[in-house]
Order: sequence, then structure tokens, then C-alpha cells
Amino acid sequence: MNILCIGAGYVGGPTMAVIADRCPDHRVTVVDINPERIAAWNSDTLPIYEPGLDEVVLRCRNRNLFYSTDIPRGIKEADVIFVSVNTPTKTFGAGAGKAADLQYLEKTARSIIEYAESDKIVVEKSTLPVRTAQALSRVLHSNSKNLHFQIVSNPEFLAEGTAIRDLENPDRVLIGGMSSPEGERAVDIVAGIYRRWVAPEKIITTNLWSSELTKLVSNALLAQRVSSVNSISALCEKTGADIDQVTAVAGRDSRIGAKFLKAGVGFGGSCFKKDILNLVYLCEFYGLPEVAAYWEQVVHINDYQAARFVRNMLAAMFNTLAEKKIALFGFAFKADTGDTRESPAIAIARQLIDEHARVTVCDPKALDNARKDLRDLSGKVEYTSDPYAAVEGAHAIALITDWKLFRDLDYARIYAAMEKPAFIFDGRNLLDGAKLHGIGFNFYPLGKPALTHF
Ligand code: NAD
Ligand code: UDX
Repeated sequence: MNILCIGAGYVGGPTMAVIADRCPDHRVTVVDINPERIAAWNSDTLPIYEPGLDEVVLRCRNRNLFYSTDIPRGIKEADVIFVSVNTPTKTFGAGAGKAADLQYLEKTARSIIEYAESDKIVVEKSTLPVRTAQALSRVLHSNSKNLHFQIVSNPEFLAEGTAIRDLENPDRVLIGGMSSPEGERAVDIVAGIYRRWVAPEKIITTNLWSSELTKLVSNALLAQRVSSVNSISALCEKTGADIDQVTAVAGRDSRIGAKFLKAGVGFGGSCFKKDILNLVYLCEFYGLPEVAAYWEQVVHINDYQAARFVRNMLAAMFNTLAEKKIALFGFAFKADTGDTRESPAIAIARQLIDEHARVTVCDPKALDNARKDLRDLSGKVEYTSDPYAAVEGAHAIALITDWKLFRDLDYARIYAAMEKPAFIFDGRNLLDGAKLHGIGFNFYPLGKPALTHF
């Protein structure tokens, strides 16, 4: 089969690489309107950092995996088209700030009808509002060539940083389709791709609307766990309880489970906030304001958590951060990715600058993206990938990203290089507080008692 993916981003790039790897007899092409991105996929430096990705791409590229800007040819030749374009939050017009911006999806659909010369299966890989398949079908069938398209929903559940592992060994693959014979055939063709390496019981088929909605719900439920725990971290700080102790025991209840209960500075990434806001908008649209308010609170707690982190820093550092140097350890929204979209580091850096602090950002993979995110603050922020350079003369370290390397540093050396009293604010509860306190630091974890020398 000829498989095409439109959109060579964090999802399209790795997903198609794994499909090409596992299905050597299918020809997989990934196209994008962004020529630099395609050039990077064809180079030695891939456009995204993802553990294990380079190896898979190197194995398949120019064998049965092709990255190209030739969208017309890709569409003409394809039997199955995965659409993996971005679906960000709308910034204008009706639903601004909540609804999904579907312009890229619709443009893709219009390219398909412009260049297609035969019937195709069109797979929604992007995360979309429920019932988008109906709109997509209407646009596609507005063609005057009498072409027929089967729409299939196949949302992607990979998480960045573990994308290859998640793709190679998914918890589940979800495929939604129409209940007509043609719809069922299309679902079976898409399922056949995954059956090459995924156990049949993990490949779940549903109707289109359940599939579209399940993706939004899965992200909302995961983000809700993080916000629930982060809200309790604030209460722990007031009461002397320890959030890690609380969640370790609560998570032992198999009905609750241990995963996604780690308190931190807040969730980031391109998906959680956007998808919850999309869910909120859908609830409002369908006349369910109470349900909308319930889910919106998950986002509010997330903003609150980042703001609270900076307020705690200010209070601990004698209510002034002016002219103080703060080393931000990490800028990516989580470890093992260079992605900084919606990273809590962005809001935290900006709030620190508002307090007239001097900020040095230190991250092993995310400095280019950090520079773009804080472009308007040029001159006020410094950047380095060397933690020891970042802490030179610093008053405090604020740990934002759970990169393993931050755990393994020589903190005695770091303490010696810093201004005194030296502070560490551990926004991920990553570091060994007792040890750092022993070295001389004033140590502020999240959701548990601080260890100070005052
Ligand atoms: P991305 O921004 O990294 O990639 C999208 C790509 O689509 C871009 O390179 C863009 O140039 C391209 N594009 C846009 N319009 C196009 C057009 N008309 N023709 C050709 N190419 C076009 O986004 P992403 O992170 O890969 O996310 C893609 C979708 O997958 C989103 O709907 C997202 O919600 C969903 N998703 C993302 C993740 C994740 O972890 N990033 C996980 C699951 C699902
Ligand atoms: C998420 C979903 O996990 C994935 O299934 C979906 O396909 C895309 O959205 P991603 O955003 O890549 O993936 O990362 P994820 O691992 O979910 O982390 C999201 C954010 O939550 C990160 O900022 C992370 O640091 C934070 N988080 C996660 C916590 O603060 N505590 C936790 O216990 C778990």
C-alpha cells in the first residue's frame, strides 16, 4: 500500500517512521508545507529530539520511508492518507482561547480533493473535536470528480519523550469508523497496518464519534490527575503533610493507581491545555455550562500552580527578587524532549522577569525553543546548556524540568559557585533534599516541608 501522512510534526514524523519500520512492504511518505522541517527530516539532525527516533528513521529512510514537500504527488499516489496537522487553540473569532483551530485540517482536505485522482481512505490522526469527521466528509465530498472518501478516526496516544516506545508497544490502538460495509472495510484496512506488530486485543474499534471524543477525554482525565495532585500539594505545604507520601499511599489503591500523581510546577506540552479547552468549548457549545466549568478548573489549577511556585520563591527570598540571578534548571515541558510548547517554564520565566530577577535558562535540548518563546525578553535572559555556568553567582536554582542530569550534578561545587544564602526550589521533587540541605542549601520542595538554615 501507499501510505501518506500530511503533517511531519511530533506525531506524523515518529508515527510514520514506526509504521515504515514494522511494515517494510508498505511505502510510507510524509509531507509537509514547511520545507525546512522536511529538509531536517532528510538530514542528520532530525527536527525533534525523541529517544530512539534516529535509529528507526535511519533504518527506513529512503527504503520505504520518504519525507517530501511534494504534496500533490503524495496525494495522487496514496491509498491511505493520515492527516496529522496541528490543531491548536483558536486565537481569534468565535471560540477564541478555547475552540480548536481547524483551518489546517480543512486546508488539507481541500488539497486532497484538488490532487486526488482516485478514492481514498482519510485517517484523522490529529486530535479533533467530536463530530469533525462529519465536517471533513462534507468538505471531501464536495469534489466534482465523483471521488469517494472513507473517513476513519485513529487518534494518537503517544507521549513525547517516550514516543517510540509508546508506538512500538501501545496500551491500545483506537480506530473509529462508519458502520456501513465500506466504513468497516476502511477500519479493517487501517487496523491491518497495526496488526503487523500490535496484538489484536489491543486494537479497539468504535464508532467515529466515540473515537474522536475518547482522545479528548483521555487527555482531560490525565491532566485532571495532575491538577488534582497539584491542588493538594498546596494544602500539604500549609499542613506539614508530604505530597509524595500522600500520593504513594493513595496510589496503592488499585482503583486509583500510581501513575500520573507526581506533583510539580504544572503540566505542559502541546496537548493537555488545548484539548481540555477544546472539551470545555464543546460542552459550552452543547449547552452544558456546568460540565464546561468543571473541566476548565483543571486548567485554572495548572496556571495557579506555576504562579504559586514563583510566589513561594519570592516569599522565601525575603520578598525581593530584584537583581537576583535565578538559574532555571530545565525549560522543556518534561524530560527527554526539546519541546517547550506550553511549558510551565515560560510563565515562570516571565513572572521572574516581572520581579526584575536576572534569569539564566539551562536545558540540554530545549534552548533553541526557549529563545523563541522568550524572544521579546532578549537581553534580560541568558541561555546555557552547562549547569555549572548557569549557577555562577546565582542566588537560587529553580528546577522546572525533570531531566535526570539535574539529579546527578556535583551540588557541593554548585553551592560553592553561588551567592549565599543559596536556595533551591525543586519544582519536580527530583532532588535529594536532605543531602542538599546538608551541603548548606535552603531547600524548598513542592508540597512538603522546606529544609532551611534560618
Ligand atoms: P506539529 O505542529 O508538530 O506538526 C504539525 C505539522 O503539520 C507541521 O509541521 C505543519 O507545518 C504541518 N501542516 C500544517 N498544515 C499543513 C497542510 N495544510 N499541509 C501539510 N502540512 C501541514 O503538531 P504535532 O505535535 O505533531 O500534533 C499534530 C496533531 O496530533 C495535533 O492535532 C495534536 O493535538 C495531535 N497529537 C499530538 C501529540 C503530541 O504529543 N505532540 C500526541 C497526540 C496527538
Ligand atoms: C500527553 C499524553 O500523555 C499522551 O497520551 C497524548 O497523546 C499527548 O499528551 P505529553 O504531553 O507528550 O503526552 O506528555 P505527558 O507525559 O502526558 O506529560 C504532560 C505534562 O504533565 C508534562 O509537563 C509532565 O511533566 C506533567 N506531569 C505528568 C506531571 O506534572 N505529573 C505527572 O504525574 C505526570
